[in-house]
Amino acid sequence: MDDNNLKIIHITDLHFFQFPKNILKLFNKRILGCLNWELNRKKRFDFSGAERFINFLSQYKNVAVIVSGDLTVTALEEEFLLAKKFIDNIRKKGFPVYVIPGNHDYYTFEAVRNKRYETVFSEYCPTETYPTIVHLPDGTPLILIHTVRPNILSARGVIDKEQLQQLEKIILSLEKPAIVCGHYPVLHHTPEYYSSSSHRLKNSEMLHEILIKTKVPILYIAGHVHHYSLNKDEAQPLVNYLCSPPLFYSQQRKGGFSEITIKNNQFDIQMKTLY
Ligand SMILES: [Fe+2]
Ligand SMILES: [Fe+2]
Repeated sequence: MDDNNLKIIHITDLHFFQFPKNILKLFNKRILGCLNWELNRKKRFDFSGAERFINFLSQYKNVAVIVSGDLTVTALEEEFLLAKKFIDNIRKKGFPVYVIPGNHDYYTFEAVRNKRYETVFSEYCPTETYPTIVHLPDGTPLILIHTVRPNILSARGVIDKEQLQQLEKIILSLEKPAIVCGHYPVLHHTPEYYSSSSHRLKNSEMLHEILIKTKVPILYIAGHVHHYSLNKDEAQPLVNYLCSPPLFYSQQRKGGFSEITIKNNQFDIQMKTLY
């Protein structure tokens, strides 16, 4: 079924994985990521969902897809190429796709030094620095922020002061409902998830202070916590926070994505599964 409203599809945490063919590529944090993948995470994912997702999109004519990072597991080039092929398949349907990196896409210092994400995803990267503001086909402002950095062991994120200053100007200038997309959630604790200090966005309080200055409805969308979660800000009811689950989580783990429509200046959000 389709109607005239734009369907904004939020997907996240694709986590395409490839074991490195060159064993030398294991001699950094990657060895931990590979072990964690093989021992824990692998069984939670079902990549047959990739084809199901593309088929799902076929029923719509008017779609924009937003991807909030963690395309890979250990930022290996082969993983990025798998992710790129999947994202390209969405774009081949004629739908615009907007992508930001997650902490797993900055998994090693070497990957960041070699700008692996920016190189493979150059067509999807903004030409300007972050935050960047683009407009969805229906005119909705989409503000993309960059919250990731490499860490020796932790999964912490950060948003720098320059970005926050620019973001504040953008938020104060908004005249219609807007979406802000970051990899890390702003809230550390909701009924659906709890982020330990080693997995949080370091200065999320400052980001929060800026978001709640809004005069228009804002939907802040993120991934990273691997749970679906939708919550209103306690201080500012115009701000809502959405986390979507990993797109390819298996049926048992309740994977899927969020479908967002804007009606009468309000966000309508539905969680969808691929099963
Ligand atoms: Fe993730
Ligand atoms: Fe993440």
